[in-house]
Amino acid sequence: MPGMQAQDEGANRDEAQAAQAVNGDGPKRKENSATPSSNSPKRQRRGQVHSTLNAVRPNIWHRIQEDRRQLPAWSCKDKLLELVRENQALVLVGETGSGKTTQIPQFLLKGGLAKGGAIACTQPRRVAAVTVAQRVAQELGTDLGGKVGYSIRFEDTTSPETRIKYMTDGMLLREAMIDPLLSNYKVIIIDEAHERTVGTDVLLGLVKEVLKRRPHDVRLVVMSATLEASKFISYFPGCKGALIHGRAFPVQLYYTARPEDNYLDAALNATLQDRISAMQLARSKAIAAGQLPTEEEQDNSPQQPEELLVYTIYAAMSHEQQLRAFEPAPPGARKVILATNIAETSITISGVRYVVDPGFVKARSHNPRLGADALQVVPVSQAQAQQRSGRAGREGPGKAYRLYTEQAYDSLEPATVPEILRSNLASVVLQLKALGINDVLGFDFLDKPPIPSIVRSLELLYSLGALDSQGKLTSPVGTSLSRLPVDPMYGKVLLAATSMGCSIEAMQVISMVSTDGVFVVPRAKREEANAARLKFTSKEGDHLTLLAVARAFAELPPKQQTSWCHDNYINIRSVRKAQDIYQQLARQLHQLQLPLTSCGEDPTPLRRALVAGLFPQSARKQPDGTYKVIATGQQVFIHPSSVLIGKKVDCIVFSELVLTTKQLTTHCAPLPCPLQKAGLCHFLFSAGMQGT
Ligand code: CDP
Ligand code: MG
Repeated sequence: MPGMQAQDEGANRDEAQAAQAVNGDGPKRKENSATPSSNSPKRQRRGQVHSTLNAVRPNIWHRIQEDRRQLPAWSCKDKLLELVRENQALVLVGETGSGKTTQIPQFLLKGGLAKGGAIACTQPRRVAAVTVAQRVAQELGTDLGGKVGYSIRFEDTTSPETRIKYMTDGMLLREAMIDPLLSNYKVIIIDEAHERTVGTDVLLGLVKEVLKRRPHDVRLVVMSATLEASKFISYFPGCKGALIHGRAFPVQLYYTARPEDNYLDAALNATLQDRISAMQLARSKAIAAGQLPTEEEQDNSPQQPEELLVYTIYAAMSHEQQLRAFEPAPPGARKVILATNIAETSITISGVRYVVDPGFVKARSHNPRLGADALQVVPVSQAQAQQRSGRAGREGPGKAYRLYTEQAYDSLEPATVPEILRSNLASVVLQLKALGINDVLGFDFLDKPPIPSIVRSLELLYSLGALDSQGKLTSPVGTSLSRLPVDPMYGKVLLAATSMGCSIEAMQVISMVSTDGVFVVPRAKREEANAARLKFTSKEGDHLTLLAVARAFAELPPKQQTSWCHDNYINIRSVRKAQDIYQQLARQLHQLQLPLTSCGEDPTPLRRALVAGLFPQSARKQPDGTYKVIATGQQVFIHPSSVLIGKKVDCIVFSELVLTTKQLTTHCAPLPCPLQKAGLCHFLFSAGMQGT
């Protein structure tokens, strides 16, 4: 890549020059200045990319470059490059929105620190990897898959040309399985380290080893939005810390006087009230707080009330949809973005001046007593609450409405407990084993997970046949499971399905359960939606119901997909995403040299395969109508969205537990009858041992 090298050598150009180059004499790239002839084909080709961009939206281009230079990260660019040059490991702290994620990798690339390799920048969230890569591609004036790309589970837009690779931490872990020294990368950036996801924590441990083994050849930058950096700094030998001074405006905090019983209503009120006060200011007209203007008032208003544009942003959305939330609001309109904790630190949307914080987060946690993962709505930590309110003060003074009392805030945990201390470690342990780290209990974790959780994961993996009695990864079951990008239990379903002749169906099912919200149930049309779902409903449970949808969809001519989904109350984005996942899984099976097979209309093999993987999560009906998890004795209920609700089913297997006011099982399937008769325990045991 000679052109690339040339760019790296041109380290000290500054961006003002670069932007000028875009403006006048072709693109801003350094390689252009390194290419003497302005008629070289390369120059023309690259020039075209830019001129399209410039020709179409010259103002936007300039604004982007101008915005970049205003970011706090820009003021410490040189110092930062110096620090990275001189230290193998650096912890960089900077407030959310200061330009860490989008700018630092570009600085390092231009500064020549990735010479002969690439920069990996890991994100805990897929959405962040995607939106940031798109943004950086826009800033560089290239397409994704050129100099910048992203790699997330089930989707890879990078090419051999890619120098800045945004990726989920899970993807870098997968790469480490194939190349433990991560030798493609000259710089590894572990971003959003404050989130302390499982992926981040495992990566920290692995990269620590990589640094030791490549002392002169690789650098690490750990980036975090909170000040608790000392832990990271003392974890890496010789590590330095640096701070990007942010530019935060004051944020006025509001608490509620009393605890709110319904935070949805409270959030709605806060949003509307604020809108009212904005209108009130505009019209100099007093409206009592909380009281919506009457229609008459609105009609008589000399000025139209602001239009409210509501967007949502959450991980399961399609990328195009997510990008909509980034579009600026048109004049006279107010944008309301309903976001999960994705908007807390991992993405920054311009123009936010008000934050409404209900004080909750939906967090995945592992309950060792249940032996299962649960998605639970839990109070945020103080650190999270501060991050949330801070988002209102990025571009000017802002307001944050905390929908809880000040006393409640004081009683929150100061910091979020690292995920590794509260999650199902089966995938982690499996990955560590696949990375050749046999002594999982002795792994140098930043925070060591509880030993009982590690032991339980080892037991689960043993029962799935992934580990032998010595705790060693088995072949082919263990190695295959570690390469399949799904939960080990579903991985086992897939492996069992290949030997039972139904891998196609298993992949269809797994891809459908991996996407959220296949069935759309609009509140106003609940009955119609339920009637439509009946067409697909299988008495064999949710997996086979989803299979029926996947099959019906796959047979449609592309032109009919949209109307079919609309008529059947199916979310087209979910099924399309499932199709993508299916393709990815099919590729994985191909790589593992496993056959694609179909059981046609006979569901029995598939049902057996499901049980062969999901048996650790099985429950038996009790005389009072509830279910009891066989392994733990925990009382659970079938999720109201399950097709098995209200059905007479003695034994079920399920995907996971969701804790609301009670424990609900998602994606349920009845255990096949012959198996029940044959003796559940015996079957569970043999299913678990199969393939070892
Ligand atoms: O990583 P950090 O939170 O420090 O900041 P960043 O993600 O690099 O964002 C820096 C700036 O880029 C913000 O002002 C965002 O408004 C902008 N940005 C954007 O416009 N679109 C994105 N997809 C990501 C960032
Ligand atoms: Mg960031």
